[in-house]
Amino acid sequence: MATSTFKLPTLEARAGAVTVDTDLVPVFQGAAGASGKKAVKKGAKAEGGAYDDVIARIGEGDVFTGRHGSLQFVRFGGLNGAQNALFVGMGKIADLTEQKLRLAGGMAWGKLTAEKVRSVAIDLDSLTRGLKSDLPAKRAARVFAEGFLLGAYKFDKYKSKPKAEKAEYQGVERVVFVGKDRALARNLEKELEQVAGMVEAVNITRDWSNEPSNVGTPEYFAGEAQRLAREYGLKCTILTEKDAAKENMGLFLGVGQGSVREGRIVVLEYAPKSKAAKTLAYVGKGVTFDSGGISIKPSLRMEEMKHDMTGAATIMGAIVLAAKWKVKNRVVAILAFTENMPDGDAIQPGNIIISRAGKTVEIINTDAEGRLILADVLDYAHVFKPDAIVDVATLTGAVTVALGKHCCAVLGNNQALIDSLRRVGDENGERIWQLPIFDEYFDDLKSDYADMKNSANDGLGGTIRGAIFLKQFIHKGMKWAHLDIAATASGLGHVPYYPKKGASGTYVRTLAQLANDFR
Ligand code: BES
Ligand code: MN
Ligand code: ZN
Repeated sequence: MATSTFKLPTLEARAGAVTVDTDLVPVFQGAAGASGKKAVKKGAKAEGGAYDDVIARIGEGDVFTGRHGSLQFVRFGGLNGAQNALFVGMGKIADLTEQKLRLAGGMAWGKLTAEKVRSVAIDLDSLTRGLKSDLPAKRAARVFAEGFLLGAYKFDKYKSKPKAEKAEYQGVERVVFVGKDRALARNLEKELEQVAGMVEAVNITRDWSNEPSNVGTPEYFAGEAQRLAREYGLKCTILTEKDAAKENMGLFLGVGQGSVREGRIVVLEYAPKSKAAKTLAYVGKGVTFDSGGISIKPSLRMEEMKHDMTGAATIMGAIVLAAKWKVKNRVVAILAFTENMPDGDAIQPGNIIISRAGKTVEIINTDAEGRLILADVLDYAHVFKPDAIVDVATLTGAVTVALGKHCCAVLGNNQALIDSLRRVGDENGERIWQLPIFDEYFDDLKSDYADMKNSANDGLGGTIRGAIFLKQFIHKGMKWAHLDIAATASGLGHVPYYPKKGASGTYVRTLAQLANDFR
């Protein structure tokens, strides 16, 4: 087995000329240079860039007009020492949003690697010329860089000869933002450092999620968490199944009962300097493989169930990023790793199990396992006296039916917490949509023999029922929100800055920022 050859490029910002093989020129529709439907404005060229003539010429006949999402690579058409030029359509400047900048960055990255570009200079003056005052140049460049670098990810460690080793081309190695404004270049350096750190954290989540379950066992992730904790100065405690038994975590242990691999609960702590800090508990579902157990899943796409630990992976990435950014609040991360397998010793439909909280649960469907393990660790999370708990889980297939792949679902008991999650999500291009959690939904989970059952098995309101099951384990007065990421954890190839296949790494940035913004 080879190790991954994937390496993030270096990011720099400079005022003045640099030598690269490709110039990247953002082009706004209808602005100087780009013709759009209208002709180039007379006199516009005076304040324009070196490429305005070329842009005007390729804009003729509607070939490239700067429409958002369009790209034009001109080989050997570079100026001032660059061999090539990549023109990136940004759309009309009046319609520009941060998200459009991220998307353009992601698309640009894809084109550069397809054209085997090694070093690139991004023209800051073209990117920031004419921006409205509500989008400062520094912010615009930053979010463009986010899309750019988030797009740079590969999971090729299991290719015996990774692509990059076979070919001479090793990917884009150097990225320089170049503009006339010295102060901007200086300020941007710091931003770019943050972006690089952010993408590193997101890629931890992606790597974890993509890891096949024969390697990515609970023990493996506990070890990796320990290693990362040391690297980023986090406190790390690991509970074995023996420890979980002492904690009376009957549900957590029940799910892992059919697996030969032992479960682990990883507790990580990030503490800021400030005493005024609040404490957020982040709880993640870490089912390293979900076969469904005795209520076994169909074999079609069962391989995707290696991603069923993405909630835990997301929280790992988020606490690493929180530590890198030195966020204001304390974060306690609780990652519950186990494996759901059928076996002679596995839990069976009809079994009744006592939870850590003392409530009894009748198992109707062993495939509704995520809520079982979360019930015990959500109850356990209260030990850390948090001001709020947020759990993240690939909990239900139903969320894909309800919302598709363009947002995740949030449900909870505190509107202010839900609202801040949604706002921070929007700022990061990670959309979150609220579903209701009316008390009546719990009627369907009443059991004839126990305090509740884990599934009603009629396929109705699956995501809400999952959430309202979890709610039974939130103590009175505790603020709580639940993110169901089953649809968005993987397979977001339609977004240019997410990998075509496998894990997306979404919500790491949102959760890290919430850890800073939460009051
Ligand atoms: N891990 C699955 C949810 C899932 C499905 C994640 C598809 C990603 C893609 C979860 O454990 C599960 O199996 N949920 C069941 C619940 C049902 C039995 C009540 C489901 O959604 O079908
Ligand atoms: Mn399941
Ligand atoms: Zn699952």
